[in-house]
Order: sequence, then structure tokens, then C-alpha cells
Amino acid sequence: MKADPAPVPKILVLASGSGTNLQALIDATRERDFPGEIIAVGCNKPGAFALERAAQANLTTFVVDHTKYGSREEFDAALLAEILRHNPDLVVLAGFMRILTSDFVRAFRGRMLNIHPSLLPAYTGLNTHQRVLEAGDRTHGVSIHFVTEELDGGPVIAQAEVAVAEDDTPESLAEKVQQQEHVLYPIVVRWFCEGRIQLGTEGVMFDGAPIERPMRLPAN
Ligand code: GRF
Repeated sequence: MKADPAPVPKILVLASGSGTNLQALIDATRERDFPGEIIAVGCNKPGAFALERAAQANLTTFVVDHTKYGSREEFDAALLAEILRHNPDLVVLAGFMRILTSDFVRAFRGRMLNIHPSLLPAYTGLNTHQRVLEAGDRTHGVSIHFVTEELDGGPVIAQAEVAVAEDDTPESLAEKVQQQEHVLYPIVVRWFCEGRIQLGTEGVMFDGAPIERPMRLPAN
């Protein structure tokens, strides 16, 4: 009799929008050798296309609609309860456009990742592509970080750069950055599932040693 295969880490993805990063993760985790499994997709917006993508992939979905809650704390408590029902090993924020409370973040310390469209620590917050163009930067990119209580401020695991062209618009830049996002997020989620990255007391640990700077994909 064959032994059952070892259980792989359970991934829960939270999204708010079109879910292109979710799709990249769905595609990656479907590869036979991927060391993790998406077990559920949560969303704060009924009707978001991310939910459609999840349904197409036969994934369990849930919606916790933030407009139905009187405060951030109540929303986060409801979201937390829903997530805990699935008992994930990793929570992946993939375009999840809500600021999370400290209690929520603490519940998943070292087990929650976020993707942010800038080379952090530059340009935390919104409208990063527009702000990069206004500043005249020649380089832009994407960061994936552990989520801590500081907004877009957790230790950065990996980054990918894109070159900013003279004629780039916020839209063209967003497209270039997203292409890199779709490559980088599956790589980092794989590292997590393989046990290669951890959040240590001093920051990100990779293969058991602290990293001095984020891992980088070269400029395209
Ligand atoms: C991405 O650009 C991500 O960096 C940002 O929100 C966007 C989500 O896009 N946090 P999608 O829903 O994955 O298409």
C-alpha cells in the first residue's frame, strides 16, 4: 500500500479586485510539484472578478463585505473568524484593499504576505505609479513583504524592478509592474511553502540566515 503524500501547506488568498495575482497563484499551485495548496479565497467585495476566477478554479470562496460592518474592528473580527474556519498555514494578500487592525495582523505574524506595487520602502500607500512618474524616477517595481502592524512596512522578502520609459503612463507602468508581480508572487509563496523563508526577530530569514537586502529579480 502506498503511503499518503505528506500534507502540503494550506494557503488562503484574500483579494478585492480583478485578481490577476490570484490567477497567477492558482496557475502556479496547479503545477504538479508545487509545495502548497490554495484552500480558500476570501474577498471583501461581492462581485469582484477575483471571486469569479476562484469559482472557475473550483476553489472555496467567502465574502466578508466591509460595508456591512460599523467599524474596522468588527469587520476584522468577522474576517478573522472566517479565515480561522479554514485553518490556513499562510494568508496571501493579493490586492486586498483593506487596512488591517493590529489584532488581525498579530494573529498571522510570520504567516501573512502582501504584494505592494513599488520598491519599498519607497512609495507606501496608493497611486504608486503616478507618484513614480511625477518624481521622474527611472526605476520602479514591486515588493513582497511579511505583513506587520506598520502599513506596507513589514520586512521585504523580494522585489522585482521595472525600467520606467520616457513615455510611460500610470497605466503602462501598472501593466509592466503587474507582469513582474505575476512572476514574483508564486516564487515567494513557493519559498514559504518549502520552509525557506521565515520572519525572524531581525527581519527576513532565508534558508536559515538573515538577509541583508530583499531578494531581487533583475530589471526586464
Ligand atoms: C496589484 O497591483 C497589487 O500590487 C496591488 O493591487 C493590485 C492587485 O491586482 N496591491 P489584482 O487584483 O491582483 O489584479
